[in-house]
Amino acid sequence: MSLPTPNPTARAVVTGASSGIGEALAADLAARGHSLILVARRGDIMEKLATELRDRHCVDVEVRACDLSNREQRVPLIEELSGREISILCNNAGIATFGPLKDLDFDYERDQVELNAVAVHDLTLAVLPGMLNRKSGAILMVGSAAGNMPIPNNATYAATKAFVNTFSESLRGELKGTGVNVTLLAPGPVRTETPDPADASFLDKLVPDALWISSEYTAKVSLDALAANKMRIVPGIISKAMSTAGQYSPRAIVAPIVGSFYSKLGSEK
Ligand SMILES: NC(=O)c1ccc[n+]([C@@H]2O[C@H](COP(=O)([O-])OP(=O)(O)OC[C@H]3O[C@@H](n4cnc5c(N)ncnc54)[C@H](OP(=O)(O)O)[C@@H]3O)[C@@H](O)[C@H]2O)c1
Repeated sequence: MSLPTPNPTARAVVTGASSGIGEALAADLAARGHSLILVARRGDIMEKLATELRDRHCVDVEVRACDLSNREQRVPLIEELSGREISILCNNAGIATFGPLKDLDFDYERDQVELNAVAVHDLTLAVLPGMLNRKSGAILMVGSAAGNMPIPNNATYAATKAFVNTFSESLRGELKGTGVNVTLLAPGPVRTETPDPADASFLDKLVPDALWISSEYTAKVSLDALAANKMRIVPGIISKAMSTAGQYSPRAIVAPIVGSFYSKLGSEK
């Protein structure tokens, strides 16, 4: 098993490519020879990344500035992807909110559901028929260890990531023998940028530096897992501990413990 072989017409799509794990996935895919379509809202940042990746790796890189939480903006992107040779899809873009749902901005919460869950479903539906016809494709779903358990004070995020986790592993079961790989990345904390000590978060202070994993490491092990058609990749010790606790402990016990922890994250905002 491996990733589809790069070719001049095929594209690997990475959503949320303007920062963090998505940017690292785009860079790693380009280094492996894949031409790309980068998707996020900030087109200017992605154009800069596209120029760097073209220069460094001699691949084609296209940029699609799109608010994936907006159904109307998704339509042209979905139509385009349905008609093109998409060899790899990294469903990575996502946002999170912390604190009691009643205190949060309800419009932003709805956007979170659209982005983290509905857009993931839409983009998968757009590329899957072409992958099945070609008997070749790879889809990386970026869920979270948070999707394994109930998390008071992170309710919308945890629920949307439960969708991604379950969708990924269910779909994978349907695609055995089709040539289409599906792998779930379900991380705990990933350090996407070095925090300024002056405004380090509760989580930054709690987790020792040595236990943080980087976006680059996360991208590499995720793409290796996708190439090997692994069901799930959980990078790093903290992620593995969170994942085990979330999956195997009684939900009634886990919920209040993680809920009080996430209330601290919520009170920082
Ligand atoms: N970092 C972690 O600790 C961690 C842990 C578990 C899971 N994850 C998951 O990993 C994924 C990436 O997280 P990250 O930490 O790398 O986050 P990040 O650095 O904040 O990047 C999020 C990406 O999503 C894009 N995005 C946000 N809203 C969007 C929208 N409405 N439409 C299109 N793109 C949008 C952002 O680009 P624009 O702002 O330019 O649109 C950005 O490129 C997420 O799904 C997250 O839930 C992260």
